[in-house]
Amino acid sequence: MVATQEIPVIKAAQSKLEGFSLENVPFGKYFTDHMLEADYIDGTWQNVTIKPYGPLSLDPSVAALHYGQAIFEGIKAYKDDAGNAVVFRLQDNFKRFNISAERMMMPAVPEEIFVEGIRQLIAVDKNWIPAQADHSLYIRPFMFSSDELIGVRPSENYKFLVILSPTGPYYGTPMRIYVEEQYVRAVKGGIGYAKAAGNYGASMMATAIARDKGYDQVLWTDAYEHKYVQEIGTMNVIFILNGKAVTPDLEAGTILHGVTRMSVLTILKEMGLEIEERPISIDELIDAYKAGTLKEVFGTGTAATVSPIKELRYKDFVMNFDVASWTVMPEAKRLLDDIRYGRSEDRYGWLVTI
Ligand code: COI
Repeated sequence: MVATQEIPVIKAAQSKLEGFSLENVPFGKYFTDHMLEADYIDGTWQNVTIKPYGPLSLDPSVAALHYGQAIFEGIKAYKDDAGNAVVFRLQDNFKRFNISAERMMMPAVPEEIFVEGIRQLIAVDKNWIPAQADHSLYIRPFMFSSDELIGVRPSENYKFLVILSPTGPYYGTPMRIYVEEQYVRAVKGGIGYAKAAGNYGASMMATAIARDKGYDQVLWTDAYEHKYVQEIGTMNVIFILNGKAVTPDLEAGTILHGVTRMSVLTILKEMGLEIEERPISIDELIDAYKAGTLKEVFGTGTAATVSPIKELRYKDFVMNFDVASWTVMPEAKRLLDDIRYGRSEDRYGWLVTI
């Protein structure tokens, strides 16, 4: 735990919340009254301020715009049933952010700015947390290189910001997923495990092609043989296979170390399921589907939370799932929501109350 320091706050002249409805808000479209901003200059973090949400003024030569030295996180704050503001697994996202920073040759953001900054920012804007089921306040910390220089090298200057968005579900209905076998998200030795902006930019073409075919997202496969599944566009993937919870392992560094993935695996274990983290081939999934032992497929992510998949397509082979008959995923989601909304004990210490 770090020493708590008051971060200076410049209050917005007027709240945008007046006349704004927090019911049925779309994902990521609206932002709260304030944001946190900090600068890394001359080897130290400075100018840490909570200020009114608003545009940044940037020099056109700013390095991040040219070379993509940019990372981010996704975290959620909830209003629990007693009306408290709680943040889910803030420390874990903080750690992952700095793992991404290290891979991208960026400075670590200290805990007193990341964790304390988010706590204090949420305390200022906590009236923006929606109370409706499956709604939350999405927290988006991000950092980018801010050197004003056209030259490929790690920057000396960086900006760290946190913005907040009241938000509804990312995927409202069960998804249709296309197994990708042409394009690649990540390769061993690459940046797949980092939450780097470029990973998302690079995913857009394959996703757009899948969308044109009527699918919501792609399930990435390995770069060498397109044989082993990795993760889905914005989520990790878990299969209920032969009565076990099976998910791709993180060994190769090609998959994001999902905080929701970790949480759901913990809950599935608590529910009595055996967990297997290992390579999973598309052939194994097809064989299990044909044998009737692939029962449920779902994605996990901060934005996506726990999202069921009703169709998985590989080439011409289509696997359909009767989501309404599932038992495991709905129970895991319920147990996770019970913790988030304070309906059951926070037995793993996942919540930070603001
Ligand atoms: C998240 O789940 O928080 C993500 O960052 C995925 C997406 C919204 C980019």
